[in-house]
Amino acid sequence: MIKRYTFDAIIVGSGGAGLRTSMQLANDGLKVAVISKVFPTRSHTVAAQGGIAAALANISEDKWIWHMYDTIKGSDYLGDQDAIEYMCKNAAEAIYELEHMGMPFDRNDDGRIYQRPFGGMTKNFGESSISRTCSVADRTGHAMLHTLYQKNIELNTEFFIEWVCLDLIRDEEGAVLGVIAIEMQSGELVIFHAKSTVFATGGAGRIFEASTNAYINTGDGLGMAARAGISLEDMEFWQFHPTGILNAGVLITEGVRGEGGYLVNALGERFMEKYAPNVKDLASRDVVSRAIATEVKEGRGIGENKDGVYLELSHLGEELIDEKLPGIRETSIKFANVDPVKDPIPVVPTVHYMMGGIPTTMNGQVRDTTHGNVVEGFYAVGECACVSVHGANRLGSNSLLDLIVFGRAAGIDVINRCKNNPLKKLPSNASDITIERLSLLEQGQSGEDPRAVGNEIRKVMQEHCGVFRFPELMEEGVKKIKDLRVRVDNLSISDTSKIFNTARIEALEVKNLIEVAEATIISASNRKESRGSHSRSDYPKRDDDGWLKHTVYNPLDKSITYRPVNLHPLTVDSFPLKERVY
Ligand code: FUM
Repeated sequence: MIKRYTFDAIIVGSGGAGLRTSMQLANDGLKVAVISKVFPTRSHTVAAQGGIAAALANISEDKWIWHMYDTIKGSDYLGDQDAIEYMCKNAAEAIYELEHMGMPFDRNDDGRIYQRPFGGMTKNFGESSISRTCSVADRTGHAMLHTLYQKNIELNTEFFIEWVCLDLIRDEEGAVLGVIAIEMQSGELVIFHAKSTVFATGGAGRIFEASTNAYINTGDGLGMAARAGISLEDMEFWQFHPTGILNAGVLITEGVRGEGGYLVNALGERFMEKYAPNVKDLASRDVVSRAIATEVKEGRGIGENKDGVYLELSHLGEELIDEKLPGIRETSIKFANVDPVKDPIPVVPTVHYMMGGIPTTMNGQVRDTTHGNVVEGFYAVGECACVSVHGANRLGSNSLLDLIVFGRAAGIDVINRCKNNPLKKLPSNASDITIERLSLLEQGQSGEDPRAVGNEIRKVMQEHCGVFRFPELMEEGVKKIKDLRVRVDNLSISDTSKIFNTARIEALEVKNLIEVAEATIISASNRKESRGSHSRSDYPKRDDDGWLKHTVYNPLDKSITYRPVNLHPLTVDSFPLKERVY
């Protein structure tokens, strides 16, 4: 008999989005559990460096509507304009709330919060770059996560740490009633039964070989959603951060370019002047990553394999680097053997962020494509969700903002739901599928090795779904991933011990990786245009007549349908589509 815990709400994941949601619920007196694979302050939000965007106007005049315009343009017009308005309008309040909770933002001399320029953030609808990104040196996510964790401790949120969620529980009407999770320490399975289930499981960058993402980012939420028949939206859009350390993948914040750093090729040229004459190194990430890939392709790359470029910042001086970018100096010395005070850092575009995800409304409710408008009792927030404010390309520093704004919005909706709805009855077979999945894994030496299959998935995605996408490569990638799915279905572990069996957890993660990889490559090969981060050699232009629509991928039959982009903001006029130049 499987043990059962009952809560008003459960939050799966303890990064910024999860902790902002749980804080809302705990503050209202709800019985809330946060279930996390790692200790909360080790969630991947901790790795966010450069900052969080809001039009505070602390350096120069700024307006939320300029931020809204930049975000829509940055999304290559695929972002929903109502959700983008909501996020940008609520940004300043979100920052002040964090400040009042004790987040130690950097300050100007006048005591107000410091702000730095970031890619694609502009003044007066694209006129020039603007300082809009609030930061805590280059450790903004670290400061934010610790602030939110402390707040949750104060509010008595209950944490289940080093627990891994395996499957969603749905009833016959499709409502979500909780999850089944395994405690790593004991290997025990438990049902978490709740009125509301919130996924805040983060990204899935580990479907690629080279990624700025933590090893925990294996798309667990998307895997569970897909297995439960919930569609995934816009999965073709993956952001390559322009500056991961060459051959190491570790993130070097865009804040470096915000503070005045710039990219140079092997000839010592500041090549961004060619690709984005107006804002140069502070263009949006898709533009900068393509520029670097083009320089490399045309033979102007640096390094042993001529496959990177240099990020120059020594001219900023040691004092500024130590004050504003101390983590970068440390990381660069450790991973590139380069002290940026003296020498440029070798960098390369590296997978960083998933724009797509589990489709949600602005309240975080998961959209249903089969039973009605929304999946009853199910929410998603943060990177695992697609609300969609980032469309085809996210602007740097809009991610931390998304976590906080939509974490709060979802929290408010969950409170209403929990107050007005009874706990639904669990189906008698709630844990059957999970138990069967686990026992299938324990078939000993006869099956496939999870580590080898996981590595193969990453290799295929890296080779077949890059910064530039080629039709034959993508088609081949689709076939390879389909073959890999058969191998994933046949995974086995030989160590079947219960206590802290990380081999079992790794195998279960591979089962999530394949769901995300397959959704990604099928959605990518289906979209016959170039938009934002999805850049095809055979369809090099954006095609608004044919493709101004969200991809909705059905994981059960691998089919694709579409959802219209919402071009109607909440209170202001729609931003008309334009060619995107920086
Ligand atoms: O470059 C960075 O600091 C990353 C920020 C982001 O992804 O928003």
